[in-house]
Amino acid sequence: MPAGLKDVVAGESGVCYIDGAKGLLSYRGYNIHELAPNSTFEETSHLLWFGKLPTAGELEDTRAAMAKARAIPDEVISMMRHFPKSAVPMEALRSGVSLLSMFDPDSEDGSVEANSRKAIRLTAQVATVVAAAARLRDGNDPVPPRGDLSHAGNFYYMLTGEAPNEVVERALDISLILHADHELNASTFASRVTSATLADMYSAVTSGIGALKGPLHGGANANAMKLLLEIGDDSNVEAVVHQMFADKKKIPGFGHRVYTTEDPRATHLRRMSREAGEWVGNTKWCDISAHIEKMVNEEKKLNANVDFYSASTYYTIGLSIDLFTPFFAVSRMAGWTAHVLEQYADNRLIRPRAEYIGPEPTLKWVPPDQRG
Ligand SMILES: CC(C)(COP(=O)(O)OP(=O)(O)OC[C@H]1O[C@@H](n2cnc3c(N)ncnc32)[C@H](O)[C@@H]1OP(=O)(O)O)[C@@H](O)C(=O)NCCC(=O)NCCS
Repeated sequence: MPAGLKDVVAGESGVCYIDGAKGLLSYRGYNIHELAPNSTFEETSHLLWFGKLPTAGELEDTRAAMAKARAIPDEVISMMRHFPKSAVPMEALRSGVSLLSMFDPDSEDGSVEANSRKAIRLTAQVATVVAAAARLRDGNDPVPPRGDLSHAGNFYYMLTGEAPNEVVERALDISLILHADHELNASTFASRVTSATLADMYSAVTSGIGALKGPLHGGANANAMKLLLEIGDDSNVEAVVHQMFADKKKIPGFGHRVYTTEDPRATHLRRMSREAGEWVGNTKWCDISAHIEKMVNEEKKLNANVDFYSASTYYTIGLSIDLFTPFFAVSRMAGWTAHVLEQYADNRLIRPRAEYIGPEPTLKWVPPDQRG
């Protein structure tokens, strides 16, 4: 039994294909290198859900449906106001998305049509939940969504109260495209396992959010930024990274279960990190990242994954560190819901077996006072 189910094929899917040796990632047959420069998050979400790139009319319908669904119920905002200030945004997100379920008129409707509506609604509203959680945590009122902005632009607007400029909006949009799906990663698998019990879509994606929170999965981008801040200056890179090697600590944002070569998402994020740095006139975080990458490449033969350069990109365009993983969820909601739709369409309960390594099943019960 390979530890962590490494390389085990656990199901069929037509949503996403990865060739880890070639560094290839495609959504529904479209290479990520085609989509990142040309597509939008709304178009990519449509592709993931419905299997084909939309016509102009279909794209407008999906865009409008997502924009219309952005507002979250006042009751949810009101309950979020009572979340403790100490709650981290991933906790607020996990609970906020779970709360939305009780206000969705389609919540318990398992028809294809209702589930498609829920996929659109969840993907639209997760951005609103994250932005509201961030503002409430900072003691500010949530900013209601605007329907005239892109998903990426509106997310930034709900966070800051200001529409982003083109550079920031496109950086956010490309990041959303790059993170939207990744085959049977831990959070998508968790979502599929839950949906395969025929539990509702909200329960499924809440499982996914829980799995994404961990530092071995979505939490790595925040840890990568914490490392950059701890290093602080390029002159400290060698000492800090060598100490981490000596302490056998993992460098956040490196290594991957599937890719044995460059993670194709990292290729875009490396460029975006530099462009963002040049745009704000400060390439320090990108420079430190490049230095760390060179060392980890040369001395550990490990490549940067999606999380490494997303850290400096997000930080440079002004996202706070504890929003990095929630922003990953804003994007991955499209992938989770696409996989859940696929699971429902041809479902069988996911219930594997364990290789038993406990004692022989022959033990006899004895009273507590006779136990050694
Ligand atoms: C992604 C990850 C969880 C994959 O895990 P995995 O397939 O189980 O691989 P392992 O953790 O067993 O790593 C294999 C070897 O590479 C080393 N390694 C893996 N990632 C490493 C990293 N980021 N830094 C240093 N060493 C690393 C391990 O220590 C291990 O070495 P060993 O064989 O000498 O013990 C792992 O690479 C990791 O923890 N990376 C850091 C967190 C991260 O960036 N996560 C986001 C993934 S997109």
